[in-house]
Amino acid sequence: MSLIEAPRTPTRGRRTGGINWEKWGWIYMRASGVVLVVLIFGHLLVNMFLGEGVKAIDFAFVGGKLSDPFWQVWDGLMLWLALIHGANGMRTIVNDYATNPKVRTVLLAGIAVSTIILIALGTLVITTFDPCPAGADPALLASFCEAL
Ligand code: HEM
Repeated sequence: MSLIEAPRTPTRGRRTGGINWEKWGWIYMRASGVVLVVLIFGHLLVNMFLGEGVKAIDFAFVGGKLSDPFWQVWDGLMLWLALIHGANGMRTIVNDYATNPKVRTVLLAGIAVSTIILIALGTLVITTFDPCPAGADPALLASFCEAL
């Protein structure tokens, strides 16, 4: 007869010291969630509602925003906080449901690798975006490109 394990039976030994990463991960989800509410709704408000609304979004709109240090910091924070938040949330789900250790390791590695690649590419775009590429049709660029 097989015995059903009691709920919350520890799979690892009791922690005896050091940094409690699981606790800090839990706190991070709450803290980043609060900041993300402001960042995401601010982002949606500015891009979708204010001014001409969603119709204003084109290359020049994005180029203009990514030339402004304020929006670079805003978008950078949103990128890092949301990706780490999403990855840590997915890590929790994998730990809850993936019972096969090999499958679990592959899934966790996939989450870590894709998160690092997306953060690196996103940060590269935010910090190096050229709003006035040489040879482009001036009608498609931000107005400040004419002065260059
Ligand atoms: C408005 C902004 C957001 C708020 C307030 C928020 C809040 C939270 C909180 C408090 C948790 C922990 C839930 C728990 O431990 O039971 C959580 C989990 C999670 N969040 Fe967010 N979040 C936000 C945005 C996002 C975004 C943008 C993503 C994706 C990139 C995301 C992906 C996840 C995932 C995958 C989990 C794990 C779900 C689970 O454990 O079942 N969240 N969120």
